[in-house]
Amino acid sequence: MIVEPNVPLQPYNSFGIVARAQQLVRIASEADLHQVLSDPALRASPKFVLGGGSNIVLTGDVKPLVLKIEIMGRRLVEEVPKAWVVEAGAGENWHDIVRWTVAQGFPGLENLAMIPGTVGGAPVQNIGAYGVELQDRFHSLDAIDLETGRSFSLDAAQCAFGYRDSVFKHAASGDNDFGLAGRAVITRVRFLLPKPWKAVATYFDLERKMAETGNFTPSPVDIFDWVCAIRTAKLPDWRVLGNAGSFFKNPTVTPEQCADIIARDPKIVHYPMADGSIKLAAGWLIEACGWKGKSVGNAGVYDRQALVLVNRGGNANPVTGGEVMTLAKAIQTSVYERFGIRLEPEPVVV
Ligand code: EPU
Repeated sequence: MIVEPNVPLQPYNSFGIVARAQQLVRIASEADLHQVLSDPALRASPKFVLGGGSNIVLTGDVKPLVLKIEIMGRRLVEEVPKAWVVEAGAGENWHDIVRWTVAQGFPGLENLAMIPGTVGGAPVQNIGAYGVELQDRFHSLDAIDLETGRSFSLDAAQCAFGYRDSVFKHAASGDNDFGLAGRAVITRVRFLLPKPWKAVATYFDLERKMAETGNFTPSPVDIFDWVCAIRTAKLPDWRVLGNAGSFFKNPTVTPEQCADIIARDPKIVHYPMADGSIKLAAGWLIEACGWKGKSVGNAGVYDRQALVLVNRGGNANPVTGGEVMTLAKAIQTSVYERFGIRLEPEPVVV
């Protein structure tokens, strides 16, 4: 085990923000993690778990010990009449695993193609796109408790998935010992890919692809290719223009609140939810406030999707975490003043 001092984190976060880890350890196996935890000094020090760095905003150097998760491996665990169960190491690149499962003939993850990040980050925020959320394809995961060093597994119910939410985003507090934020390191994730496979193509952009191509019975590869094409057209590639995906969650409101907003802004994009609430397109709210394409310093609002904040300074003159947060706060204020809605950031601010 090597503890690397003073490690630049710019290559390890998709915004391309400059910051350093005071100490960083690469975790390539469960054994590496046990070794860290058996060292008295390292065991006691606060820790920060870094996956693909695709959903974080670094606002300064990271003082806690950074555990960079690089646990690899992919395999079919079992095939039963109703499903394939596939396992991947937390350090595997998410998109590589999606492509591999589809190519192997274990479909089900294709709607989640091209989401940046690693397998271990996927359950933390219950990634979702084009009508599928991770929780719809989740079997179980393995993790290690940083306090006790014990290994444990969780099923879907224990992960308490919600919209871009899970038990891993909540800290345990007081009487409430629910919450594993900062406490658990996810090491492996298993996916339940149901048989027979059925296309999920109800999202507007996928319906449009079907109409455009005349292909109304798409295969898993067709959906994979369409999702890749839609994302490429709409979302910036973080390797070219740093970003952390959607910067805010889509807010939900009551039907009464929605009716009130529609009375003032009839064009607002909204979707009724199964529980009776209404989800609003945050990108629309931000665009309506005039932010699309605008910048604060080197932090900008992407000109093709207002929900995405981008690094306009590139690697040479990169945005700072402070600039990103200043822009985010200005957007929140505008949206609140005009619509009375508080937008909640999606990435973790470090
Ligand atoms: N819209 C605008 N202006 C904009 C952006 C969006 O008017 O600048 C309106 C359009 O009407 C558009 C609608 O909002 O049709 C929805 O936009 P989009 O399909 O791009 O989806 P989204 O709600 O903005 C969510 C997820 C994305 C995911 C897409 C597709 C969240 C926070 N974001 O975005 O996830 O890829 O749906 O399923 O739920 C991410 O979480 O990082 C992410 C990219």
